[in-house]
Amino acid sequence: MKQVVSVVNLKGGVGKTTTAVNLAACWAEQGKKVLLVDLDPQGSASICVGVISRGRRLLDAMQKIIALPVVPTDVQGLDLVPSGPELATARQIFIDGPGDEIFSSCLKQTAGEWDCVIIDCPPSLDVLTMSALLASQHVIVPVEASFLGLNGVKQLGPAVESAQSRNPELDIRAIIPCRAQPRRRIHWEIMDRLNEMFPGKVSPIIHENVSLAEAPGRGKPVIMTARISRGSDDYRLASLWLAERVGLEEKEAIVFSYDELSQPLEEVNSL
Ligand SMILES: Nc1ncnc2c1ncn2[C@@H]1O[C@H](COP(=O)(O)OP(=O)(O)O)[C@@H](O)[C@H]1O
Ligand SMILES: [Mg+2]
Repeated sequence: MKQVVSVVNLKGGVGKTTTAVNLAACWAEQGKKVLLVDLDPQGSASICVGVISRGRRLLDAMQKIIALPVVPTDVQGLDLVPSGPELATARQIFIDGPGDEIFSSCLKQTAGEWDCVIIDCPPSLDVLTMSALLASQHVIVPVEASFLGLNGVKQLGPAVESAQSRNPELDIRAIIPCRAQPRRRIHWEIMDRLNEMFPGKVSPIIHENVSLAEAPGRGKPVIMTARISRGSDDYRLASLWLAERVGLEEKEAIVFSYDELSQPLEEVNSL
């Protein structure tokens, strides 16, 4: 079964979109097939992979309860469900009844060989964020290392619990400290608090890095605009750390049998 990961924080500007896009790209670089779903009417994740959309086709799919619209991206192995301002109407349309389960039905009908779906959520606890939580097994929370950032994580708890009562598979798998500035004392204070609140779940940090701020303007993930940079290194490391936690570990290890190993090297090479 494919893994569905929601990138959530009710606070804006903490690095949700940057994390969703760059994790998706790093997993694709590691050979996974990934579907990035932009569920924010601001359409930022779409822009970050070079796609500008009005969000009409996504809204249409949700109104008709049919498969989501998927487009390819320039990143090999990465596809996108684009969003844009028209998706904002969903907040009025689906507010009543079980409207927040519609997205999940649409996703189930979306055919494709993806190992993983990553959903970039809007910065509010609305029907769109709840839709993502009901369709996911995993929650990843980007957090900015500030006291207000910490407060945002505390507010997320009840939202995830409310979704868990309807989707028991759901769990917070990781907290990603984003825009980190370890030279500041507050960084270490916040890291201590996060490690106390989420033992074993705090990922390697993503530093504040200019390459990450520049990449959206080029419509590409950082591993394409600045292949060798701190931003690329940080997301590559975090993606490896996270892969195991969201059930994306290596599927096929190369295993030699004892007989093969005991043969002369030339023979092994000719196998
Ligand atoms: N690690 C980082 N270093 C530098 N700039 C960053 C970093 N992470 C995010 N940004 C920038 O901060 C702004 C907000 O990030 P974004 O990912 O859009 O947050 P959110 O989706 O939570 O609103 C964007 O301009 C983005 O380019
Ligand atoms: Mg965003």
